[in-house]
Amino acid sequence: MTGSADTLAGMRILLLNGPNLNLLGTRRPEVYGSTTLTELETAFTAWGDELGASTLTFQSNHEGALIDRIHALRDEVDAIVFNPGAFTHTSYALHDAIEGVELPTVEVHISNVEEREEWRRRSVIAPAAVHRIYGRGLDGYRWALRHLVARATVPAERIAYGPDSQQFFEFRAGGPRLAVLIHGGFWRHMWSFDTLDLDAVDLARRGWSVASLEYRRVGNGGGWPTTKDDVVAGVRAAAERAAADSIVLIGHSAGGQLALEAASELGDETTVVSMGGVNDMVLAVEEHLGDGAAIDYLDGADPERACPTLHPPPGPVVIAHGTDDDRVPFAHAERYVEANPARLISTQGGDHFRFLEPGDPMWTSIVEALEVAP
Ligand code: DQA
Repeated sequence: MTGSADTLAGMRILLLNGPNLNLLGTRRPEVYGSTTLTELETAFTAWGDELGASTLTFQSNHEGALIDRIHALRDEVDAIVFNPGAFTHTSYALHDAIEGVELPTVEVHISNVEEREEWRRRSVIAPAAVHRIYGRGLDGYRWALRHLVARATVPAERIAYGPDSQQFFEFRAGGPRLAVLIHGGFWRHMWSFDTLDLDAVDLARRGWSVASLEYRRVGNGGGWPTTKDDVVAGVRAAAERAAADSIVLIGHSAGGQLALEAASELGDETTVVSMGGVNDMVLAVEEHLGDGAAIDYLDGADPERACPTLHPPPGPVVIAHGTDDDRVPFAHAERYVEANPARLISTQGGDHFRFLEPGDPMWTSIVEALEVAP
């Protein structure tokens, strides 16, 4: 699905799991699920295969054994996916091991550590890691793999556009056409820019400059209008960095809403592609979309004020949506294109996530449309 031929074939990635993760499957299944460690490791290997990466796996309950394994594999692997378990919160020695071997490492937590006990919020490992993924269940390990493969395939530079830790974009330099990728996740903090990484690599390889934008979200300082203001500021900073002569904002899911809303402020030079986008905030509130995500995001603000269907941007708009999207109903695309000028790319039977797979026609049809007529 992900098109292994297009990513860095031959990359070797180590999966490390720390203490108590050998109990996966029986340990607090309401928090960690019912999948066993062996099943997770098997799935991890299959996810690696899809990406053209080979994998090694190791679990230990002992800090020293984890450190020894990191040292021993220093020259055998290219990157690490690491769930340090409770060592996350205390182990400076593991921080130093990661830092010492200089292997790009993504820290993963199955549970939403930011919304549990206070002490779980603290990670002493994070400063040594290139990225941190939490609260996405076992799928977090898959996102970590994708991120590591993407950054090895086409390296990116991290650029801050404001003082907050979430105000940055990962930048891949290319030509004067800039694509700013605005991720989704219902504006919630556990979802981040990495979800669009493979699309970023695909665009970079086609010669685009690409900015994968991060922004403050609900739970880490965001909400309307802060989040929208971050997106506007981030796009401006990326345009400057790329010395862009044309800008396309490509948003997925809630990122579609953000792209459309930001473009209304940025003016008619900006093209927008909304993929599976929350294009109608009034509808999103009415239908309690994403377990009340739009309501949480607006936090009392009038949905009409943040509704792209009512406040369309002045420039060209492409609305891309799968007819079978079960996260953001196709009605969001219909409502937008009935009320406003836009090109509709609908995929019969298409779902919410195939936009994230560069080999899938749901993605390639958008890129091809942009390359012909931005
Ligand atoms: C964990 C979170 C840690 O706080 C905890 O000690 C674990 C698992 C997770 O995957 O959510 O053992 O890392």
